[in-house]
This record gives sequence, structure tokens and C-alpha cells, in this order.
Amino acid sequence: MSLDVERLFAEREAERYALHARYLNEQMVRVLKTIGFDQAYRRGQGQYLYDRDNRQYLDLLSGWGVFALGRNHPVVRDSLKQVLDSDFPNLVQMDVSALAGVLAERLLRYVPHLEKVFFANSGAETVEASLKFARAATGRDGIVYCDHAYHGLTYGALSLNGDEIFRKGFGSLVPGCVEVPFNDLAALERALSSKKIAAFIVEPIQGKGVTMPEDGYLSSALDLCRKHGTLFIADEIQTGLGRTGRFLACEHWGIEPDIVLLSKSLSGGHVPVGAVLTRKWIFDKVFDRMDRAVVHGSTFAKNDMAMAAGLATLEVLESEKLMQNAERIGGRLLATFTGMIGRHELVKDVRGKGLMIGIEFGSPRSLTLKASWNLLETANSGLFCQLIVIPLLKDHRILTQVAGHGNHTIKLLPPFIITDADCDWIEKSFEAVIADAHRVPGAIWSLGKTLIENAAKARASG
Ligand SMILES: Cc1ncc(COP(=O)(O)O)c(C=O)c1O
Repeated sequence: MSLDVERLFAEREAERYALHARYLNEQMVRVLKTIGFDQAYRRGQGQYLYDRDNRQYLDLLSGWGVFALGRNHPVVRDSLKQVLDSDFPNLVQMDVSALAGVLAERLLRYVPHLEKVFFANSGAETVEASLKFARAATGRDGIVYCDHAYHGLTYGALSLNGDEIFRKGFGSLVPGCVEVPFNDLAALERALSSKKIAAFIVEPIQGKGVTMPEDGYLSSALDLCRKHGTLFIADEIQTGLGRTGRFLACEHWGIEPDIVLLSKSLSGGHVPVGAVLTRKWIFDKVFDRMDRAVVHGSTFAKNDMAMAAGLATLEVLESEKLMQNAERIGGRLLATFTGMIGRHELVKDVRGKGLMIGIEFGSPRSLTLKASWNLLETANSGLFCQLIVIPLLKDHRILTQVAGHGNHTIKLLPPFIITDADCDWIEKSFEAVIADAHRVPGAIWSLGKTLIENAAKARASG
């Protein structure tokens, strides 16, 4: 007997929304149906998704940043097949993994000032580990994080979340966590000067809103950490592995964090994995005696599939020169979008580095447009971006996302493999949709009206 997964998928895929509404997250199904994102993709290859009619979509969301190499990259796939076809002694536990040793060695080549690696199963797990490591290493309790930060949703990571919507309703969080505004060195210094702070954790470029650090912010923050005996943790879960054109985004500002967190892209888009890169003395404070050899860890961490996915990812990053591609293509897109500021009054700002790009919209000057904007904002702050994201998918088959709740920024997080032809597609589509948004009355603002009415109906029906 064997399980025919392909047949199972073919037979049942049409029921996916019904199954999810019944057994999983019904609210997610409602969201997808409301904004018309229930496309029922059948296939994914590289930077593209395909629906039932084999229509091609360009994916600029990359599963929230995991498909750096695109979907189903042949090298990753082949490495995983080799693991499956091998008789490697996976997860013996009372032994150590050869592949984990090699992956650690290769990761540290990219970050030579760090000496040790701890593997985990997800981004949030690396955050949890880093908090424990920082507390153990410094003997202090406090953690400083930034407003609008996103480090994951487990309790430790949630305690560092700069957004009320994620925290509300989940009770008390980890004590000792202090929020400071991003880019505010004076506030950081005030927080650190208590001398109770184990670590400052920061995304070099904040994922929510694609908020850039001011020049000098990260290096001065690192100096402040040194001055006050606080560790500097760089959360590179989204920015890392070359997304911004350098292996770490921190390299753009020439800083050497004490702890670096990686995940997402390292998975090759196939096997969840996370890595904490750290200084040896920090690691040694945690694992300081033989009876504490397993004082932190997780059953599935370092499994052979995850390690092979990580190794294959690094191999492809190099062989296909994907960091260079991210830098070049990202530069082209940034220049194009920046050129829209001024030409389209709704486009307020364009930010990013490499293939992490945010396009921010804001209140227009002209009166008719302003009236429509205000109506939408009053009904639901941040709704405007859906009016861009929806036609991008419906009319131009481009999958994008709004960069957070109540946010006016659309985020592009494409696979690193996108081509100039894909950029032509992106530029033409955004230009058309953004130009349409400047026409009142017009299809986009009618869509806004429909969304407001649907939301009101949904609220009324509970
Ligand atoms: C910067 C950052 N840190 C941490 C996380 C959490 O990762 P995970 O969802 O794998 O727990 C994310 C996920 O989006 C992230 O973007």
C-alpha cells in the first residue's frame, strides 16, 4: 500500500476552502473570498504560480519571504530526494548530525565574526533561543525592542511585537520587555542606561512597512549596546541570506551584531529551519557544563531534511549569483517606483534595499481624490492598499501584500530569481493600477465602495 498524494490533491483540491472553513481558520477563508484571493492555485514553479486554467501569476509575496530561490528549485528538490533515498542516521539525538556541522560551518563563512550556531525549526524559535541566550550570557532580564517590530508570535517573540493587534487578548507577556521607537537613539540610550537590559533586538529593515534605519542608527545603537553591556541581536529572518543584496542587511551599515537570526530563505522553500549565529562566549554561557548540554533545544532541530535544504540553498545562492541579482533587479525596481513619486500624487514614498521594497501611499492633494481617500480611511484605515493589491492580482496576475495592519505600504518580497522580463511585467502592471487609482470616479474607487459595504454587512452578520 502506498499513499498517492498527487491523486489525493487532484481529487480534493477543489474543496480546499470548504475544508478550511470547516476544520481550520474560517476567518482566513472569508478574507480570501472577500478580496478575491481564492484563486485555488494548482502549481508553483520558480517565481510563478498557476491556477486551474494554467494561467501564470507572478508571486511577489514569496510565502512571506521563504521562496528566495523560487518554488521547487531543482537543486533543493534533488538534495531532499537524496536525503529521502539515503539511510542517513537522522535525529539519533544521542549523537550529532554531520550535515548540521557542515551547514553551521558554511553559514559562519558568511558571518566570520561569529563562531557558533544553534539550529531551530522556525523564525520565532530562533527569537526564543536568542532571548534565553542573552539572559543567560548577561545575567540580566530586560529586552529592548522597537515599535512596529515583528519577531514572530510565540510568547517570547510576541512580547517583542510592536503592534497591539497581535498582542491583544493573549494575556500577560514575558516581563522585562521594553519598547522604544525605531530610529530613536535617545530613547534607546534611556532604556539601556538602566543596566538591566540583556539585549536589544532589531530588524535592520523593519518588515512591517519596510521601514529603513536612518544612516548611523544601527552603528550608534551597537555602540550604545557596547557601552551599557547589552547584546545586539539582529533579526535577519526576513532580510538575511541576500535579500537586500548582501548576505546580511547589517553589512550595508558595516555592523557586527552579537547574535544574528536567520530562517525563511534558508529553508529553500521546503523545510522549516532557523539558525541562531552567535559569539562563542555567549553560547558557552548557555551550554556551560556537561549536565547542561541539552538545556536548550528542540526535537526536530538539525533534522537532515532541514540541513540539506539549507545547504542546497547556500549552494544555489552562489552558483546562480542570486545576491547579485537581488541587488541589480532590486535597484531597477526601486528606481522605477521612486520615479512614480510626484508623477502619481497618491504615491508618497518608496523604500527598501534589494528585493525588499515598500511603496507607500498617502492622502492626495486634489479635492475629488482627497474626498474619496478620506471616505475610505474613515471606514477602514489602510483599506486603500487593498484597492491596489486586488486589481494587481485580478487584472495583472501579480500577487502582493499590504505590509501590515492599518498600513499604507505595499510590500514586494520577490524571489531572488526574478528576471528583467518579470520587472517589465511588474512595472507595467503597477503603472496601470496606480494610474487607475487616480481616476475618480473609476473602477478602483467603486471597488473601495463595495469593500466598505461588504465589511459593514460582515460586521452586521457577526
Ligand atoms: C523579521 C521576522 N522575525 C521573525 C519572524 C517569525 O518567523 P516565523 O513565522 O517563522 O516564526 C518573521 C516572520 O515573518 C519575521 O519577518
